[in-house]
Amino acid sequence: MIVTTAFDETEELVQRAEQLASSLAIPYVARRKKTVKSLLDSLDSQLFVVNNQRGLSYYEKGQDEVFFHPNMAMHRIKQLERGQSDSLVTACKLEAGMSFLDCTLGLASDTLVANYQVGSSGKVVSLEKSFPLFVLVREGLAHYAMHEKTEWQALIDQVSLVHADNLDYLRTCEDNAFDVVYFDFMFHHTVESSQGIKIIKPIVSYDVMTPEHVKEAMRVAKQRVVVKSSYKNPMIEPLGFTILRQNQKRHFFYGVIEMEGAFRKGDGV
Ligand SMILES: C[S@@+](CC[C@H](N)C(=O)[O-])C[C@H]1O[C@@H](n2cnc3c(N)ncnc32)[C@H](O)[C@@H]1O
Repeated sequence: MIVTTAFDETEELVQRAEQLASSLAIPYVARRKKTVKSLLDSLDSQLFVVNNQRGLSYYEKGQDEVFFHPNMAMHRIKQLERGQSDSLVTACKLEAGMSFLDCTLGLASDTLVANYQVGSSGKVVSLEKSFPLFVLVREGLAHYAMHEKTEWQALIDQVSLVHADNLDYLRTCEDNAFDVVYFDFMFHHTVESSQGIKIIKPIVSYDVMTPEHVKEAMRVAKQRVVVKSSYKNPMIEPLGFTILRQNQKRHFFYGVIEMEGAFRKGDGV
């Protein structure tokens, strides 16, 4: 894995690329007018490109450019600002001041919406197993807040992004550490797929929900565990979730396990 700049390597881009390489402890390579293909063929099959357009792009041999843009989150936050509902906020019953553990960051759409909803008195921690995606979202969010929407800086500063496997992370958490623990693993029978999710498909992790995830999530969640899943996934109800049907038109649903009185700490699933 290496870092370089866009084709036109300005001093500022070189500085940013060198800083990123050093923070990730991977090599920086000067672009020297080489194409992405030739760098991938000759040097390394995984390449970060620091640029002005996106902030950061990522390439793997034979795959299209992968990048981050908070399109979907912006649209959803505008709807909330207008007083409209959001299906995640409804399913998770998110309110100001709550803490939210997003076990599957992806393109951070749910993370940003949850963060907006819980506000400055709340807390959001978001986990991503794919290292390239974790870096793209972290750097992309910072670029976006700095160059396009400065009023988002506070919102973004408040999100804590962690590169981790969610089960490993959950095992390190105290009992009742978060009000809501949330999962949105990749759908295996993809019917929906926003354009954004299609772009990240080559680099994401395809883990699935297991009884161990549910057991740990129930220990860590104070109020509820919520999962978003496709209608074709028959595993969710057997794992103990109650299905909320409000999203039938949209090919996915939310499953919820309410904690109040339903679970004594230390019980299995
Ligand atoms: C469908 S996407 C999540 C989309 C996200 N909710 C959003 O709003 O953009 C699923 C993400 O979970 C990540 N993932 C899968 N298994 C994981 C695991 N065990 N730990 C952490 N992240 C995981 C994938 O790499 C992928 O980025």
